[in-house]
Amino acid sequence: MRIPISKTASPKTKPEDESRLGFGCVFTDHMFIADYDDARGWHDARVVPYQPFSIDPASPVLHYSLEVFEGLKAYRHANGSIGLFRPALNCERFNRSAERMCLPQIDAALQLEAIETLVDLERDWVPGSPGTSLYIRPAMIGDGARLGISRAQRHIYFIICSPSGSFYPNGIRPVRIHIEDAYVRAAAGGTGGVKTGGNYAASLLATANAKERGYDQVLWLDARERRYIEEVGAMNVMFVIDGALVTPPPTAVSSKASPAGACWSSPRVSVCKPASGQSASTSCFRPIARAR
Ligand SMILES: Cc1ncc(COP(=O)(O)O)c(C=O)c1O
Repeated sequence: MRIPISKTASPKTKPEDESRLGFGCVFTDHMFIADYDDARGWHDARVVPYQPFSIDPASPVLHYSLEVFEGLKAYRHANGSIGLFRPALNCERFNRSAERMCLPQIDAALQLEAIETLVDLERDWVPGSPGTSLYIRPAMIGDGARLGISRAQRHIYFIICSPSGSFYPNGIRPVRIHIEDAYVRAAAGGTGGVKTGGNYAASLLATANAKERGYDQVLWLDARERRYIEEVGAMNVMFVIDGALVTPPPTAVSSKASPAGACWSSPRVSVCKPASGQSASTSCFRPIARAR
């Protein structure tokens, strides 16, 4: 599909000091939007200037959190080229999240094309300093005036981009982590394994309490026994034990919903396999070729 692009008439000034970007504070000039309803499916895919959109005050996203999102990054390589880190996996996970939250599926190829089109247009926004990247945030919300607790009538899929630095405001110094044994992030059968907004709202209190006590983040434990490690705040966790890197399996986000996955019954390391002729460090990246 050729995605129509309306370019902004008033481009923003790009941040000069990449060391002060922070996380998710600055947004690029454009965004991608597509609409969905049952009659037409996904339609009107377009790139437009970054802007607010209006939704009905009775929209299910505002009352029942009918929402899912993803987070992925475009990096500027040393030679100036731009690569997305394993974007296809984010597109697949987006659809797994959507299924759990009764939101419509959106073809992974369309998601990828939307991301690539937007990043190509915004390529000058991809920072190049060490520790920086263009953070890409696809999201889907349930729209339409209906307060009954049911699937939404309409949906909006959109993508925004934010040049970002470290997730931690003070960088990695290293960070202090509080082992959280009161609140939990995910329970078997729940929605902890999908990327939906409510999970993050529910995690804020524990994180705020930890910050008050001088910690940067919390380490979540399993909901049933508070014995097994799950993840740190909103990120994965890895340990080096006897020289081996131990981390939850790549599918842990979804396997958290299953009792077997909750306790790392089979710790594994996620490894990108280089395609022939590529080195391991470049094979995970999908290049953004200059199209326009
Ligand atoms: C709950 C949670 N776990 C882990 C991660 C790490 O991200 P990814 O699974 O994309 O590597 C994130 C990122 O947003 C997250 O929100």
